[in-house]
Amino acid sequence: MTDYHALIRQRLNEKRRVHSENTAAEAEKLAKRYGCDEQKAYTAGLLHDIAKCLSQDEASALAAKYGVAIDEYAQNNPELIHGPLGAAIVQNELKIRDEEILDAIRYHTTGRRGMSLMEKIIYLADVIEPTNVFEGVEDIRRMAYEDLDGAIVLSAINTLDFVLKRRLVIHPDTVDAYNDIMIIKRRNLIGTKV
Ligand SMILES: [Fe+2]
Ligand SMILES: [Fe+2]
Repeated sequence: MTDYHALIRQRLNEKRRVHSENTAAEAEKLAKRYGCDEQKAYTAGLLHDIAKCLSQDEASALAAKYGVAIDEYAQNNPELIHGPLGAAIVQNELKIRDEEILDAIRYHTTGRRGMSLMEKIIYLADVIEPTNVFEGVEDIRRMAYEDLDGAIVLSAINTLDFVLKRRLVIHPDTVDAYNDIMIIKRRNLIGTKV
C-alpha cells in the first residue's frame, strides 16, 4: 500500500501535516461511530488538504493540467480551489479512483446539497480535529458524536459567519449544505445554541 504519510510529509508543511494526520484520526473515529468505512475515512482525511500548500501559480497550473474549473467563487476566494484540486491530484497522481474518497476531498471546504456520510465525516473531522481552535468549536465537537447533521449545520453557520464578517464571497454549496439539512432538522435544533 502506498505510504500516504510519506507523501504528505513531502507536500505539506509541518502544521498542515499534523492537521491532516489529526483529521485522518478524527475521521476514523467518526466513521466508527456512524458505521462508515474507517480505512477509507482515514485515507480521505489524510489526503484532504493535499493541495493546500501550493502557491497560487502552482495551483493554477495544476488546475489547468487536470481540467479543474476555477469558477467565479474560487476566483474571488482562492481558498476554495484546494478541495476540487486536491481530488484531481489524488485521482491523477495517486490513482485513487474511489468516488467516496474523491468527493469527500472535493467538497470538504464547502459542503454541498445531499452530502454522503463520508463527505460529512471528512467535512467535520477537518473542523473538529484537536489542533483546530476557534470560538464555538467545542459545541461542534460535542454535536459531531451525537448528531452528525446538527454538527454540519453548526459548522456551516460558523463558516458563513466567518465569510460574512470578512466580506468574502459565499460559495452556494455551503448555503445548500446548510439549507439541505436545516429544512429537515430545524425542528430538532430548536432549543440548542443554533
Ligand atoms: Fe481544506
Ligand atoms: Fe483541512
